[in-house]
Amino acid sequence: MSAQIIKEWSAIHQFPAATQEKLVDLLAKLKNQDVNTLTILVLGKCGVGKSSTVNSIIGERVVTVSAFQSETPRPVMVSRTRAGFTLNIIDTPGLVEGGYVSDQVLEIIKSFLGRFLMNKTIDVLLYVDRLDAYRVDNLDKQIVKAITDSFGKEIWHKAMVVLTHAQLSPPDALSYEEFFSRRSESLLKCVRQGARISKKDVQKFAIPVALVENSGRCNKNEFDEKIIPSGTPWIPNLVQVITDVALNGEKGILVDKKLIEGPNANDRGKIYIPLILAIQYFFVIKPIQKSIKDDVAREAKPSWA
Ligand SMILES: *[C@@H]1O[C@H](CO)[C@@H](O)[C@H](O)[C@H]1NC(C)=O
Repeated sequence: MSAQIIKEWSAIHQFPAATQEKLVDLLAKLKNQDVNTLTILVLGKCGVGKSSTVNSIIGERVVTVSAFQSETPRPVMVSRTRAGFTLNIIDTPGLVEGGYVSDQVLEIIKSFLGRFLMNKTIDVLLYVDRLDAYRVDNLDKQIVKAITDSFGKEIWHKAMVVLTHAQLSPPDALSYEEFFSRRSESLLKCVRQGARISKKDVQKFAIPVALVENSGRCNKNEFDEKIIPSGTPWIPNLVQVITDVALNGEKGILVDKKLIEGPNANDRGKIYIPLILAIQYFFVIKPIQKSIKDDVAREAKPSWA
């Protein structure tokens, strides 16, 4: 990694002037707080727009967008520098394979982090899903649970939800705001359940939501900035929320040996051993002892008794 030459973030100049100005302000804000590196981990299902979102933030097509995963999935880290500031974004393969959360993909992501970000921190987690999905199901909860098990509950202190495909017409005569608030509320509820965040901790784990529209047909404002239906230019808004999360006072997630290796299956099994022994004792050994005792007692008695 140290041998790798990190590219200048020259694509920042591709943005409209109004967007560039806001981005430069946000980077200055981070530098003012002594944040010279920002590492963003992007997680979510397949086909929710993770790669497109990474490309949108950087301002160029840096990662290949694949609607259909044909090759072996692997994470990609894009790094850019600008005026002494380094931005790292890690795009990852979808966490679901064949209808189940893939532990293998999570392992691949973790070993990738171990290779390229050892002793560094993950500063922001982008949990990506689509705005135009109409329900959350148990699988969504399983994904959040798997992320929580892999990275620790603390990762949700550094998380935000990104909802893509934000330029939509809500069905059933719902207003856009109403649709957005229902969708984000149900997804946040699912995240809280999957991450086992209790009611009293909801404030401590306030997870912001940002809307994204990566389509080339995204509407624009008078300054040529891509906007979501509310009229908000979404790229500066997304980077603003990322900055807020980075500066929210919570510690980033340190990539260390413990995180990478995690509790391995054998160790995880070990904590149950005393329980299994206890169960065996009461339900297997005790009854056997008792039946032996009964047998012995019966046998000890004279046959005529
Ligand atoms: C990470 O930190 C540990 C403990 O401080 C050190 O032993 C190890 O060499 C470091 N690894 C890298 C890749 O910097």
